[in-house]
Amino acid sequence: MNYQWYPGHMTKARRMMQEDIKLIDLVIELVDARVPLSSRNPDIDELGKNKSRLILLNKVDLADDSRTVLWADYFKRQGYFVTRLDARSKSGIKAVSSMIAEACREKTERDRKRGIKNRPVRAMIVGIPNVGKSTFINTFAGKACAKTGNKPGVTKGKQWVRLNKDVELLDTPGILWPKFDDQMIGLRLAVTGAIRDEILLSEDLALWLLEYVSENYPGMLENRYQIGEAVSLNENNDSMAAEMPEEKRRALWLLEQIARVRGCLLKGGEPDYKKASMLLVEDFRSGRLGRITLEVPETGEE
Ligand code: G4P
Repeated sequence: MNYQWYPGHMTKARRMMQEDIKLIDLVIELVDARVPLSSRNPDIDELGKNKSRLILLNKVDLADDSRTVLWADYFKRQGYFVTRLDARSKSGIKAVSSMIAEACREKTERDRKRGIKNRPVRAMIVGIPNVGKSTFINTFAGKACAKTGNKPGVTKGKQWVRLNKDVELLDTPGILWPKFDDQMIGLRLAVTGAIRDEILLSEDLALWLLEYVSENYPGMLENRYQIGEAVSLNENNDSMAAEMPEEKRRALWLLEQIARVRGCLLKGGEPDYKKASMLLVEDFRSGRLGRITLEVPETGEE
């Protein structure tokens, strides 16, 4: 595994964010609703302390609704303002606007008591790569919004986008680096496409995904790929396969079926596992497989 490209990039991003964060009142953090914890970097809590905090569960169109509800509750219980979002659609804008207003109310009140009027709340978007920051800024702030600051030839300061009369948004998002010292986090981020494919083999991703989906969303794979039930997984006499735990053998069997059903075959007619793996992961990322969330908040009840 090679993460070498990352550290220099991280240090610079963190330094820039530390500077930017000084200028703002509200941190709007985007997380991927399919992996709400794995797509966060908890360091933002330290960087954003003393600021109002809003979490946007983005890409809800791809996530499992019932789990999104659980995650929204989870973050609310931790003291964040939370709302759900499909950053590509304008339909969520109202909910986000009112949540921003709510998150800022305390500050606006404080200003008002001190006699400060009409001072807009300043906000910035943060999140790991690919979580939808630019999409959100484009959809939400759009081109119609007047940009303020950074007048040509006068300042080379920050660009602020006026969202409404009360809120200004920094037009460059803060990039958080994903934190994946835990292998499971790495897997979830790779499957969703947040980190680069080369880090993990596509077959490993696919087998893990197959195991997870079979267990958590029974019938979904069979439906999507028109796969019948396995008559007997023990039919496979391969001694290596025989030693595998049942779930792993089932995942391998499913991958083989997907390869056959979708015509991912090598010259001799053997299944092309790599091709089938890529097809499966792409089906997951695009939502064609179904609406899937890869983690559930701990309830503390187990
Ligand atoms: P970033 O600035 O945080 O790095 O993310 P960016 O906005 O570039 O979004 C990354 C990808 O995620 C884009 O896909 C974008 O369309 C998609 N995306 C953002 N928000 C949502 C959402 O709410 N729902 C869905 N379904 N997709 C969303 P892309 O440009 O097509 O690129 P790629 O995913 O094919 O690489």
